[in-house]
Amino acid sequence: MYDSGKVMAGLVIFGCLVTSPIWYNALTGKSGYIPKPKIVTDKKQCIEPKEYIRTRHKDLLKDWRESVVRKGIRTYTGSDKKRYTMSLTRTCMNCHSNKLDEFCLQCHNYMGVTNNCWDCHAYPKGT
Ligand code: HEC
Ligand code: HEC
Ligand code: HEC
Repeated sequence: MYDSGKVMAGLVIFGCLVTSPIWYNALTGKSGYIPKPKIVTDKKQCIEPKEYIRTRHKDLLKDWRESVVRKGIRTYTGSDKKRYTMSLTRTCMNCHSNKLDEFCLQCHNYMGVTNNCWDCHAYPKGT
């Protein structure tokens, strides 16, 4: 039981090692296809540096959910010390307010990434 954390970490690392070359190549254009997620906000940067958010937003979102649901903590302090409310709809989608297929799905569709987040979380406008 006390080992489950390590086992999970192992699985996550293994999963990343197995899948990362595929999306790494796609994200860097080495596969000949470059997804073009359209940025519509007039803000200059994301909550974390682009390189980080690009490949790690999955983990960030899961941490946010854990924090909100399990601990009731809703404030996130970015590496640049800026504070954000941990909310998929009100924070991420406030800046990335374009249609789903112009942003998130640009990458996800190509990479075959699927999720059920929008079954419960409101997608602001468009779609
Ligand atoms: C079965 C419904 C359901 C699904 C599916 C779901 N969530 Fe949630 N999620 C919730 C509920 C309920 C909360 C708690 C809302 C609160 O307390 O503000 C929550 C909270 C969160 C939060 C923190 C608060 C907020 O409003 O954003 C994040 C981040 C989050 N979920 C991300 C995700 C992501 C990413 C996915 C897809 C991988 C996902 N959720 C799928 C129901 C769901
Ligand atoms: C304050 C506005 C703002 C918020 C909040 C925000 N983003 Fe961003 N995001 C941006 C901007 C601006 C860029 C482009 C950054 C750049 O080009 O350096 C970006 C880039 C990205 C990228 C990379 C796109 C690419 O072309 O590689 C992803 C993925 C992303 N954001 C996801 C998210 C997620 C998930 C959240 C919530 C956890 C979020 N963003 C919250 C403004 C925001
Ligand atoms: C720059 C390309 C790109 C953009 C833009 C992008 N994603 Fe992703 N996303 C990915 C990749 C690649 C993965 C798979 C990463 C992995 O498996 O570690 C992923 C995985 C995810 C996952 C985890 C799915 C699962 O397996 O449970 C969630 C949740 C997610 N993204 C949410 C978002 C949201 C919300 C947006 C729009 C705000 C977004 N992403 C925009 C590339 C992107």
